[in-house]
Amino acid sequence: MRNSIQPVVAVFDAKPYDRDFLAPAFRRSGLEGRYLPSRLSAETVRLAEGAQAVCVFVHDDLSAEVVGELARMGVGIAALRCAGFNNVDLRAAHGRLHVVRVPAYSPHAVAEHAMAMVLTLNRKTHRAWLRTRDSNFALQGLLGFDLHSKTLGLVGAGRIGRAMAAIGRGFGMRVLVSDPFLDSAWATSAGVEGVTLDRLYEESDIISLHCPLTSETQGMIHAAAIARMKRGVMLINTGRGKLIDTRALLAGLKSGRIGAAGLDVYEEEERYFFEDFSASGIDDDVLARLTTFPNVLITSHQAFFTREAMEAIAATTAANLKAYFDGGPLPNEICLRCARDGDACPRAGARCF
Ligand code: NAI
Repeated sequence: MRNSIQPVVAVFDAKPYDRDFLAPAFRRSGLEGRYLPSRLSAETVRLAEGAQAVCVFVHDDLSAEVVGELARMGVGIAALRCAGFNNVDLRAAHGRLHVVRVPAYSPHAVAEHAMAMVLTLNRKTHRAWLRTRDSNFALQGLLGFDLHSKTLGLVGAGRIGRAMAAIGRGFGMRVLVSDPFLDSAWATSAGVEGVTLDRLYEESDIISLHCPLTSETQGMIHAAAIARMKRGVMLINTGRGKLIDTRALLAGLKSGRIGAAGLDVYEEEERYFFEDFSASGIDDDVLARLTTFPNVLITSHQAFFTREAMEAIAATTAANLKAYFDGGPLPNEICLRCARDGDACPRAGARCF
């Protein structure tokens, strides 16, 4: 460690399950966790006073204002306990705050959840579960289709997209992928076909989103994109909510162009996901409308939530922080240059995410 005092890590948006996994990993790495239920924001940033590091999740806000305040308080590093980093103002952080993340924990966790959504929506097990509890054993309305020989289109063939491709191939599906940085050697060995986005939209029976949220991908599933898709297509989003223009999705569901939607993420999810509103209800009319469709399955950003993923997240987060306090290199630091323009990373020799 750089100093002999045990470094304090302010862990924002800490739920009991976060503490269960992080506390032992931090202990093993000589770190002291300060577990805070609040999300990090301009209003709560002062709770990090006295800490040398912050640990944050997907809904914590690392805007320029928050980054500036953290730097002023002497916090030297923000450890994201997730892969995505669209909630960080990297330009503001550059040179003031190291930002590290967990680039890969369990791509299988997310891909398996995406396939769970496909299977549920297709075979309507969510509806069958409700029916049989009410002694309704009728099959009317529960008709599904064979996945075998259908076409699965994956937008993004990174870690999660590749895991999803393997699952799709395991079901005997034809798998199409669209990725501007496609590794064609992998595509050949995995038995998948690289295609343009338009072709993927036109030919896929099921489309699953596995690309990051960037200025280029924000709102990519808009009305014109939906219009290109096959009638009755199933759309799965475990990527980020803002990839989809939700109002266009609603219109697609109403017209029947979209046959089913599985959403683990939602564009306004920060207001609700991970919290319990069962007593008060919600005032987001778009989300409320989505929950009324029998062919829409919403889960609250839980795709990552397996024991294996939580263990890996805790271990990598602790290792990222320990490396910083030991003064060593930070292999999981997010590089501003890569994040901004996709140039070759001076550190990794290719893009580092
Ligand atoms: P990754 O970085 O391994 O792969 C992302 C892939 O998307 C890369 O191959 C990249 O070239 C590709 N890509 C970039 N721009 C694209 C575009 N315009 N069109 C198509 N492909 C594009 O990331 P990984 O680990 O596979 O994660 C993907 C996303 O999944 C993350 O960015 C994150 O937003 C989301 N995620 C969601 C979780 C959940 O619990 N729902 C958990 C973990 C990640």
